[in-house]
Amino acid sequence: MSNEFVARSLEEVRFWSRIMKEHSLFLKLGFRCEDTQLIQEANQFYSIFEQIEGKAHSFTEAADPAQIQRFNLEVHAAATHIWAFKRKVLGLIIQCKLPGGNNFPLLVDHTSREANYFRNRLEELNGGRLDPLPDAIIHENVFFLRIMADHAKFIGHLLDPSERQLVEQARNFSHDFDQLLFQAIDLSGMRPQSQTEPLLGQFLDQNRVSVASLRDFKKTARDLIEACRIKSIIHPLLADHVFREAERFLFIIDAFEGALTGKQAGA
Ligand SMILES: [Fe+2]
Ligand SMILES: [Fe+2]
Repeated sequence: MSNEFVARSLEEVRFWSRIMKEHSLFLKLGFRCEDTQLIQEANQFYSIFEQIEGKAHSFTEAADPAQIQRFNLEVHAAATHIWAFKRKVLGLIIQCKLPGGNNFPLLVDHTSREANYFRNRLEELNGGRLDPLPDAIIHENVFFLRIMADHAKFIGHLLDPSERQLVEQARNFSHDFDQLLFQAIDLSGMRPQSQTEPLLGQFLDQNRVSVASLRDFKKTARDLIEACRIKSIIHPLLADHVFREAERFLFIIDAFEGALTGKQAGA
């Protein structure tokens, strides 16, 4: 039991601390050169999450659960701080106090939602209270479908407008994921009656197909950007970042599918 707590905590922190570190870089790249204070804050978050990532990799699964619980608290505080920073930046952009900056408000909001998700995961792990499986399936899918829909929108807007075919593909993904998100919200509204095994199984199957195809699109885009074969203002690391987040969603869907069919508790 405590072994599983350690393994799951480390897995979660390793994945999300790298994500938070990269958000700091993306935000920094979108600030104007005169925003030195914001750039400095972003740099500080970069090194904080770089340290956390290193520490998470230095622990093994045999670590003392009490030590990991303290580590989770420390990471939770850092996630709270970066969340507050992102919300502050969002406020500045929306009030037109950073004219000419290159961070889209939706992108900043998106990264703050990911920070908040990370914080919640840490609270759930430390509190030892995970959602019952049917609720977890709906919550996680609502969260990640919206994340995927946002990614498609970001890709569509950061590709060069002359890349007409790719822009069109990104727009189609954005539409598909908006539809899937609304379906998920409908299913959520029909809870608990909607939480039957066949409905949840079909929900996971349908989402998996679309996420796998978006993941493949992101992988292609990443490879094309890395090889400088397409025109865009997408940082190669951002292309890889959104690809990894799609992979994570697929991994979570598979874990749910296994738990649903295997009838194990909690996924
Ligand atoms: Fe992200
Ligand atoms: Fe994301």
